[in-house]
Amino acid sequence: MTQTNAAVRTITVIRGDGIGPEIMDAALYVLDAMNVGLQYEEADAGLAALEKHGELLPAATMDSIRRNRVALKSPLTTPVGEGFSSINVELRKRFDLYANVRPAKSFPNTKSRFPTGVDLITVRENTEGAYIGEGQMTSEDGMTATLTQKVTRKGSERIVRYAFDLARSTGRKKVTVVHKANILKSTSGLFLKVAREVAAQYPEIQCNEMIVDNTCMQLVMRPEQFDIIVTTNLFGDIISDLCAGLVGGLGLAPGANIGADAAIFEAVHGSAPDIAGKGVANPCALLLAVGQMLDHLGKPDDASRLRAAIIATLEAKDSLTPDLGGEGNTMSFAKAIASRI
Ligand code: NAI
Ligand code: MG
Repeated sequence: MTQTNAAVRTITVIRGDGIGPEIMDAALYVLDAMNVGLQYEEADAGLAALEKHGELLPAATMDSIRRNRVALKSPLTTPVGEGFSSINVELRKRFDLYANVRPAKSFPNTKSRFPTGVDLITVRENTEGAYIGEGQMTSEDGMTATLTQKVTRKGSERIVRYAFDLARSTGRKKVTVVHKANILKSTSGLFLKVAREVAAQYPEIQCNEMIVDNTCMQLVMRPEQFDIIVTTNLFGDIISDLCAGLVGGLGLAPGANIGADAAIFEAVHGSAPDIAGKGVANPCALLLAVGQMLDHLGKPDDASRLRAAIIATLEAKDSLTPDLGGEGNTMSFAKAIASRI
């Protein structure tokens, strides 16, 4: 779904929890400086919505995303263990945002293990598998916990196809199918079988298969061998944080949740309660997600302009946040980026 030619386009903006409002202010500051003809419709979700409206995902928020088809979202807090289920997962399910697309790229001056050589995209299935927590139950005596893990042919086929189409449209050469079919014969087995069928339809793109635990080791040792990774939901969740770690941390890792009728752009990281309210969160992850959103909106030149301004600011070490070893803050970093737009 790519839209073009709209003079003014409205997007839904969700400011989120924890560091969410701080990084959203910074991201919108830069977006405003770019003057790309977007206007914002604010909507609440998560803890902020619970406080204001008494519910985690108000109908008005669902309507806004349905209408605008594109949302920029800050992280939402999900308490660990008992309590309400994740609103992030709920949004992905309700809008059938089946593809979670997470690029990891080496940037200058990031204190990362790999200051050069990493340029890969994790394409994660976003609607099924163990991650969505279907059938979660603990026995009455509290001794046994279970969950249903379901993988479908439809879910596997559309995500693998998405990964190969992405390779085609972006000129990437290789897709690595990551699985655990040696042990999880039914679920991961079906995913791998379908992936092989789809791969055969893209003869010009190299395809290899890798078991998930080995993939983690390979990513740390030789990340340059990867181009596009496609995998199931839970593996993709873990692998994409690992990839973020390779290139300098979660402050630099963006993600897009794409479906046929809507798309939600966000940082990979969460609400970072440990630094919330201090004004020091790195706004780059959300800004790089803005870049993905501009691509999606049919504005690739603006997306490139934004990425170039981020890279130039990192190169100049101008007002970087503490996670990157700088002494700047969220807003000074954003202003330094905006001044290079
Ligand atoms: P987290 O990603 O919020 O934080 C992990 C570590 O990275 C912390 O030390 C944090 O300070 C640091 N960090 C994260 N973003 C940063 C940034 N922009 N700049 C500088 N440092 C940054 O993960 P955590 O603590 O496991 O989760 C906190 C909450 O966020 C949980 O409730 C979790 O469910 C939620 N979450 C929400 C997501 C979403 O809305 N898509 C994604 C991941 C987690
Ligand atoms: Mg995660």
